[in-house]
Amino acid sequence: MPIPRITETLRPDASGLARAAALVRAGDLVAFPTETVYGLGGDATDDLAVARIFAAKDRPRFNPLIAHVADVAAAQRLVVWSDLADRLAAAFWPGPMTLVLPLRADAGVSALVTADLPTLAVRVPAHPAALALLDAVGRPIAAPSANPSGRISPTSAAHVLAGLSGRIAAVLDGGPCAVGLESTILGLTPDLVLLRAGGVPSEALANVLGYSLTLHQGSAITAPGQLASHYAPDARVRLDALTPHAGEVMLGFGPVPGTLTLSATGDLTEAAAHLFRHLHALDAMSPQGIAVAPIPETGLGRAINDRLRRAAAPRN
Ligand code: TXA
Ligand code: MG
Repeated sequence: MPIPRITETLRPDASGLARAAALVRAGDLVAFPTETVYGLGGDATDDLAVARIFAAKDRPRFNPLIAHVADVAAAQRLVVWSDLADRLAAAFWPGPMTLVLPLRADAGVSALVTADLPTLAVRVPAHPAALALLDAVGRPIAAPSANPSGRISPTSAAHVLAGLSGRIAAVLDGGPCAVGLESTILGLTPDLVLLRAGGVPSEALANVLGYSLTLHQGSAITAPGQLASHYAPDARVRLDALTPHAGEVMLGFGPVPGTLTLSATGDLTEAAAHLFRHLHALDAMSPQGIAVAPIPETGLGRAINDRLRRAAAPRN
């Protein structure tokens, strides 16, 4: 169980920004203002920090997160860039537009950020405090909207505290958000599709593209496990196992030991941080199957079990 803590309110001055950056670099969570909505930020390169984001929001699923970066050069270090990405970024960054592009092999972001997809959402926010924080942290910051799962996105520090006080280290108070609506999301993997309408009006997009985009059918990736491109182990996955059968490798948890263990102490945040990496590593052993210890259906255990059930589902 996480220890309850007092959430600090920080001002976006030199000392507040330094404190916020130090917290993020240490793996803690800091809510920060963007021009769209407040983001719940964690170090995108740190598995445990990203797992804490899902825990703080009480999200029942590992949907992929947006990696926030300070500029185009920082985005190019994470994703496979293209001419079209360049045109869009020149027109709308910093600003309320998110680009989903192929993930670079050397990006170094946690698999929890992409929900283990081969693509990554990146955005340069147009808010001085967000850009100053990104500069000071020097790493991409993963951030969904800073609200508990299923609640309205926050557009002020007070909204953030109403939902997440005691669950995150700090909120950087940059005043109310100017746009107040989430970013427009465009997929370029490689065909251009509108994945979510948002802060960039469709007319402005059409002006840059020379044609209009309509919302891609069934595009809201609320359940990335449903994507065809989503990783599923080659090995058959068997859930709620206490011991492996012949030929199986075992993914342990808590008192149930394994070839690899999600968390020996039964810590669900640690387990989430290890989930994708351990599944890949076990699968790489080419076993006949992967047996998985029982995971409690509480807190982050729901998201872990959701992902494991998808991995275990029959496929053709
Ligand atoms: O304005 C915003 O975009 C705010 C601020 C904080 O930047 N963030 C935000 O994050 O709205 P969130 O987590 O609430 O929504 C991100 C959306 C989700 O619908 C997610 O499925 C989609 O982005 N997404 C992220 N990565 C993706 C990927 N690789 N492929 C497709 N969709 C992706
Ligand atoms: Mg949201």
